[in-house]
Amino acid sequence: MSPQPTVLIVDDEKHTREGLRCLLENDYDVYVAAEVAGAMNVLEHEQIDVLLTDLRLGNENGMTLIDRTLKMPRAPICIMMTAYGTIDVAVEAMKRGAYDFVTKPLNLDKVEMLIARAVRSRKLEQENRALREQVDERYGLENIWGDSAALHEVLDTIRQVAPSSANVLIEGESGTGKELAAHALHNLSRRNKAKFVTVHCAALSPQLLESELFGHEKGAFTGAHERRIGRFEQANGGTIFLDEVAEIDPSTQVKLLRVISEERAFERVGGNQTLRAEVRLIAATNKNLAQLVREGKFRDDLFFRLNVVRITMPPLRERKEDIPILVRGFLRHFCKVNEKPLLDLTSDAIDALLTYDWPGNVRELRTAIEHGVVMATGPKITLRDLPTAVRQAASVMSPRGISPAEAFRQKASPLDLHETERKLIMQALAATNGNVTAAAKKLGISRRTLHRKINEMNLGKAPAKTTDASGSKD
Ligand SMILES: Nc1ncnc2c1ncn2[C@@H]1O[C@H](COP(=O)(O)OP(=O)(O)OP(=O)(O)O)[C@@H](O)[C@H]1O
Ligand SMILES: [Mg+2]
Repeated sequence: MSPQPTVLIVDDEKHTREGLRCLLENDYDVYVAAEVAGAMNVLEHEQIDVLLTDLRLGNENGMTLIDRTLKMPRAPICIMMTAYGTIDVAVEAMKRGAYDFVTKPLNLDKVEMLIARAVRSRKLEQENRALREQVDERYGLENIWGDSAALHEVLDTIRQVAPSSANVLIEGESGTGKELAAHALHNLSRRNKAKFVTVHCAALSPQLLESELFGHEKGAFTGAHERRIGRFEQANGGTIFLDEVAEIDPSTQVKLLRVISEERAFERVGGNQTLRAEVRLIAATNKNLAQLVREGKFRDDLFFRLNVVRITMPPLRERKEDIPILVRGFLRHFCKVNEKPLLDLTSDAIDALLTYDWPGNVRELRTAIEHGVVMATGPKITLRDLPTAVRQAASVMSPRGISPAEAFRQKASPLDLHETERKLIMQALAATNGNVTAAAKKLGISRRTLHRKINEMNLGKAPAKTTDASGSKD
């Protein structure tokens, strides 16, 4: 923000414009415009913090201006001025993202207060964004790509719980990014100077797992030629990540419970000296651990200790808005690794990527893009370059071999229409990088309608917008 906050006043009545300029120019850099074009000109050339616009601008409409303004990157806070009797329009403006409204005739004290409040909130918003970007960059949250509301929820929880020492249980299907999340939790914590130690619990026999976790003394069992320091000791002061925690056998579960209870105690296998370790435990599983507890396959007391905070990684099919961002990231990575120029995708390849259900989640998408990059012979990855499963999904979903847009034009049956609409929405989201406002415009429907459809069709929640006054009703 520049030293003086900036305000743009848009009103077709000269005396209102000038009156407001007089009122505000001591505290703000004030710009004025009489119509939409003039206002857009200012907005494109100056970093405006607050836009104050009349609803009626001659033949034009302040709402149009607000809609256009809010689509700009780093859009200013928008406030609508409206005559008594058109309050419903002002409320509509707020639903579409305006910050607040004032009624005419103007109460100047109110206007001053409102602008001051808007500037404060803008400043906070900017500070928060700057902080978040700094933190994300330093600690690897920027490695977790995606912009869906579901993913943002996960990232927010990570930011929130990382600094504490609470144990975290990360649930989610295979390939959804549980390990990435675990790393981020450690990197964002105060323990980030100490070690992050991973144990793959499913890979080891019960006896080996116990010695892996707690170490063993020389001669503890056949093959134990040396004393071995266990993972808990190694991780002291840091974080231990138990991957596939559901696979831990009952006797090791008991020992694990002891080391993560207040006692924090354990013994090396074959040893009788009691040791202590101060570690934060992050556990991951692709099973439903609560269900395993109900079935008697996992100790409930251990479950309660692990499950202080639970993070659930959403499957990719429930957040398909994330696909375009992920695809772009993986493309960049694999083109570089394979020393190819940055490849593009043909539209039927994009269509297939958006249609497929991704049972292997992000990992499978990553592999599919690697496959595509390696197989591509031209500047674009075609449908043929993608793995068979992905290709087959595309042919099943579109039996006539026509694109969703084409099917729509050919007036498909009502049953197909639903599917076609779903695909069109996904394509629009893909083309606009998951930006709901831009996608809605492309589709010629309102943002609210698009939000509703995304929810109804279970395409994953649309990204929430902090300035959206319509809130949860949307
Ligand atoms: N949001 C994401 N952004 C970028 N890469 C991701 C994302 N989610 C997952 N990946 C990548 O997908 C692959 C699988 O992720 P990860 O190993 O964290 O999944 P997982 O849930 O631990 O899977 P599993 O249950 O099979 O162990 C990794 O290569 C990871 O980098
Ligand atoms: Mg994993």
